Amino acid sequence: MSLHINEIRKDFPILDRETANGKRIIYLDSTATSQKPVQVIEAMNDYYRRSNANIHRGVHTLAEEATAMYEGAREKIAKFINAASSREIIYTRNTTESINLVAYSWARANLKSGDLVILTEMEHHSNLVPWHMLQMERGIELEFIPVTEDGVLELDTYKTLLNRTPKLVSFTHMSNVLGTINPAAEIIQLAHAAGAIVMVDGAQSVPHLTVDMQALDADFYAFSAHKMCGPTGIGVLYGKSALLESMPPFLGGGDMIKEVKLRSFRANSLPHKFEAGTPAIAEAIGFGAAVDYLTKIGMDKIAAHEHEVTEYALDRLEEIPGVKVFGPSADKKGGVTAFTLEGVHPHDVAQILDRDGIAVRAGHHCAQPLHEKFGIPATSRASFYLYSTKEEVDLLVSGIYKVKEMFG
Ligand code: ALA
Repeated sequence: MSLHINEIRKDFPILDRETANGKRIIYLDSTATSQKPVQVIEAMNDYYRRSNANIHRGVHTLAEEATAMYEGAREKIAKFINAASSREIIYTRNTTESINLVAYSWARANLKSGDLVILTEMEHHSNLVPWHMLQMERGIELEFIPVTEDGVLELDTYKTLLNRTPKLVSFTHMSNVLGTINPAAEIIQLAHAAGAIVMVDGAQSVPHLTVDMQALDADFYAFSAHKMCGPTGIGVLYGKSALLESMPPFLGGGDMIKEVKLRSFRANSLPHKFEAGTPAIAEAIGFGAAVDYLTKIGMDKIAAHEHEVTEYALDRLEEIPGVKVFGPSADKKGGVTAFTLEGVHPHDVAQILDRDGIAVRAGHHCAQPLHEKFGIPATSRASFYLYSTKEEVDLLVSGIYKVKEMFG
């Protein structure tokens, strides 16, 4: 293993707890949300204990401290994804809100009836519904890059769709069901060559891979803190500054203005123009601590560790008769393994595993159209992060054999 896994696990207090029936928690649901290390929990506690004040509004010691911590976290996040400037980091509530910000602000100012938006068949609902809403309101057109049986995007069809001069291409960097890591740089470069703006849903990629905004060249990129060891309630919209400058504000209120008259206002400069009202201050500070934590361990090491666990999990799961794992081989995916067990509903699988303390998610994972494509209503999904171990995979596999026995 490339990580000091025992040391890392000690940072996550929750991994030590037991269920009501005395089973140790085997947490295999990091795709839904990651666990939080003590470094993040304490950074937020410290802020509330020592520095709690509103930001950008006061000149007193606490307000200055809180502002420095909040803005300091933005700097760390900008560096983490190699943005050209921290002005390009807009705090939102989560990935969903980031995508909605683009749909409300950029898209409503730039798209009209008949304009084409290209999505993919593997999108999370958060990168489908905002565009459905715009389709109903504006009459934009939607097309979808198909997903193959192996769970990868059909790039030839994409290239054909690009001949129809789309205005926007919006896709997930890494599927939350199949685990597929899409060739983001290639998809972006092709979209730009066709004259389209590109939005990337990075909710699953930023926590697990090294992402570099300047190398990728996406126009917008969205992600959430809670999937990368940070708190819930805060996410980021990265946007190229020229684009963000050109867009109208999203929510109106305090902090996003330079000046307000009775009948008019002047918007603030970036990034504040898109941050109305008192923000999630403690959460931003926790987000900064999460970025520090991941950086110190090293994203390359984290990715290598997850790859090792995923490869092992795929081998072990595929040897169980009746188990079908969805998505591509380990070299094309991150630590997400969605599977079905013949003759047993995915919810029953998850419930029986839970009796042994094993936490997996069951359902359509907010990607209903993708499940429809594969002709199934739901899957069970085990997902891994830097604290996951091969021993936990073994326990999952034993648990699935137990489910099989119960269902005959
Ligand atoms: N998008 C999260 C998941 O896949 C909630 O579980």
